[in-house]
Order: sequence, then C-alpha cells, then structure tokens
Amino acid sequence: MPQLAINVDHIATIRQARGGAEPDPVHAAAICELAGAKGIVVHLREDRRHIQDRDVHLLRQTVKTRLNLEMANVKEIVEIALEIKPDMITLVPEKRKELTTEGGLDVIGNAKKLQKTISKMSKAGIPVSIFIDPDAEQIKASLEVGATYVELHTGRYCDAENEKERDQEFRLIEQAAELSFEKGLRVNAGHGLDYRTTTRIAAIPFIEELSIGHAVIARSAFVGLDQAVREMQGCIDRAGRI
Ligand code: PXP
Repeated sequence: MPQLAINVDHIATIRQARGGAEPDPVHAAAICELAGAKGIVVHLREDRRHIQDRDVHLLRQTVKTRLNLEMANVKEIVEIALEIKPDMITLVPEKRKELTTEGGLDVIGNAKKLQKTISKMSKAGIPVSIFIDPDAEQIKASLEVGATYVELHTGRYCDAENEKERDQEFRLIEQAAELSFEKGLRVNAGHGLDYRTTTRIAAIPFIEELSIGHAVIARSAFVGLDQAVREMQGCIDRAGRI
C-alpha cells in the first residue's frame, strides 16, 4: 500500500487569514505524524500566500518522517530548497491567480530548465519528483531530465462528473503508474483525493506515496486533525481488501 503524506498548506491558509501565529502548520505536522502519516508536504509558493519561509525552516528541524517541499522551478525557491535540504522536492507549475495547482508540469516544454535544477538538487543529494499528468510523453521526458520520481496528477479522476469518465481517468493513472515503474521512475500520486476517491488509487501497484491535503484538513474542522488523518489512513488500508 502507498504511504500517506499530508499537505498542511491549508493550516497556514487559516493562519494567514488573520495574520497571526495560529494555527501553526508546524504543530499540525506533528499531529499528522503522531496519527500515522509517513510524510509532510508543504508548498512554498512565490507569493507566500500560505506557507512562509519560517514554516519550512522549522519543519526541516521538527519533521520526523519525510519533508516533501512542493515548489515552482524558480531561482529564489530553488535556492531556499538547496539551503533547507528537504527529504525530496516536488516541482509543480505555479500560476499567481490559481486557487491550487491546476495541471501537471509540461516537462517536454521546460526540459532544459528542469535538467539544470535537477542536476543542482542531485549534487545536494535531494531527490526530485515532477508533478505530471498521467501521460506517456511526460513520463518519458521526466526520465530524460533526470527525475527520480513522478507524482501523477489525480485531479481529473477525482473531479470526474460521471462513472464512465472516472473509469477512463482511473485507467490513465493506472497505465501511467505502470509505465513509470517500468521506465525506472518511482511513483507518487495526488491532488483532489478525498475519503471516497483514495481507496481505488491506493490499490494501484507501484504507487509509493499519496499526497493529500484539502480533504483531510477540511474534515479536521469537524473531527479533529488526528482523527481525520487516521480515517484517511483507513481509506488506504482498505485498498488491501480490493
Ligand atoms: N500534489 C500536488 C502536486 C499539489 O499541488 C497538491 C495541492 O497542494 C496536492 C498534491 C494535494 O492536493 P489536495 O490538497 O487536493 O489533496
């Protein structure tokens, strides 16, 4: 079964709404780990709309599992990553006006820039994942630019409007996971996964880690973060019975 990594960006979003110190994503990360999460994910956006530099520095010191830094491939953030040395980074496309990361990264169109960053990360011992749509050409390009992992975008599967569409999107992810693995890439997945959509994805062989944020943080408002993480872990565990 894949391991569960929790994205705590939304905790920082609530904090930023009042500009104070609470709730603290560093505190949230510790609760997630104690509830069984095997990784913590944060996205340090260029506009710093939620996670702040201070959060990433503190998380580097406090996270006991694995810290995955999501980031755009831009000089400022690349320098921060090289200084902080997260356990891995995930390169994502970033647009100022988007509410959340929209599509996967166009690896083919950005190959040169990606290669340069991946080579710097590799010298610093930081494995790189690239967030991509479940597409064979993007998978091949990810291998060519030197990525260690791909994170397969599950958003279209989660947002499908009917079962037929959902099945089609599911098959694309399943095939992409298999192709990535065959090519020697390690495979993560995420985006939009919730308490209904996670189990089926978790049953796909080859996927090592699921990165989940919104659904867990939203549910935590009603049941608490510890329980919300445990329930999501339950969704992953149920994949073993499919
Ligand atoms: N993976 C990537 C690359 C993301 O950008 C995000 C959102 O920050 C996630 C996973 C988690 O998505 P969600 O918050 O919808 O679970």
